[in-house]
Amino acid sequence: MVSDSAPPVRFRELLPRPGAGDADPAAAYAYPDRLERPWIRANMVASADGGAVGPSGGSRDLSSAADRRLLGTLRGLCDVLLVGARTARSEGYRVLRARRAWEPLRRGRPPAPPTAVVSRSLDLPEGLLEADPQGRRTIVLTVAGAPAERLARVRRHADVVVVEGLSVGPEHIVDALGERGLYRVLTEGGPHLLAEFVSAGLLDELCLTTSPHLLGSGSPRVVAGGPGTPGAPERASARCRPVRLAGLLESEGSLFARYVRDPGDT
Ligand SMILES: NC(=O)c1ccc[n+]([C@@H]2O[C@H](COP(=O)([O-])OP(=O)(O)OC[C@H]3O[C@@H](n4cnc5c(N)ncnc54)[C@H](OP(=O)(O)O)[C@@H]3O)[C@@H](O)[C@H]2O)c1
Repeated sequence: MVSDSAPPVRFRELLPRPGAGDADPAAAYAYPDRLERPWIRANMVASADGGAVGPSGGSRDLSSAADRRLLGTLRGLCDVLLVGARTARSEGYRVLRARRAWEPLRRGRPPAPPTAVVSRSLDLPEGLLEADPQGRRTIVLTVAGAPAERLARVRRHADVVVVEGLSVGPEHIVDALGERGLYRVLTEGGPHLLAEFVSAGLLDELCLTTSPHLLGSGSPRVVAGGPGTPGAPERASARCRPVRLAGLLESEGSLFARYVRDPGDT
């Protein structure tokens, strides 16, 4: 069990109740009740000028104590953490360990959520191939053409879902997680995986931190497509999908917006 010794962070509520004072992020980010299918929530951080990757090659340049606190709360609320393999590699993802602060968020559920990782190469961080203390394994979603030796090895350590074709489509991911009863999904990207969910119209919610920094040109946005990602948009989007601003918090100059899919968007 990991204890939480981080200094307290205050979130000021700006919306939906301006002037309401301090907000409890666990309440402000509760998933919808009575879900009947997986709800795909993304949590991403961008600079004020829209960049998602800083000089470190990751997002930590944009992070803050408040952003890390919210990230921890969102992980505590979810049934499964979903991530693209490049983010898992570059940010050194490991199996999540239970945290004391999660106990009230996870009553009746396992003490920590499993991670699901999407990969064609199956080049995965070792830390994701360990079982957690309860024996639960990482879910690996891959394609039939994945390297056979790696596939055999990953099968020994993980719950593997193999999809025919070149890509694991967002609909495959939703189905596989739904079959496992994992409805409260949190994806932390990266930008390429997120682009596929946006393009498929399967993103239900975007939690977007706007960090008070400028990154200038050259940094990818929180969604990015391009060569090597079949299905990802390479030109201007064909759709402009409406979303609703469901909440807005502020802490230490960072803004924490919660956008949900517009019910009229089909
Ligand atoms: N600002 C933020 O909030 C934020 C959040 C997350 C990440 N990041 C940054 O973003 C960068 C990484 O993100 P990224 O967009 O380059 O990569 P990504 O989306 O994390 O991962 C892409 C990889 O995921 C696998 N993948 C994606 N779609 C797939 C599909 N349909 N079928 C099978 N496999 C699929 C492939 O893995 P294989 O290569 O293994 O085949 C692909 O190379 C890092 O710099 C990270 O620090 C920023």
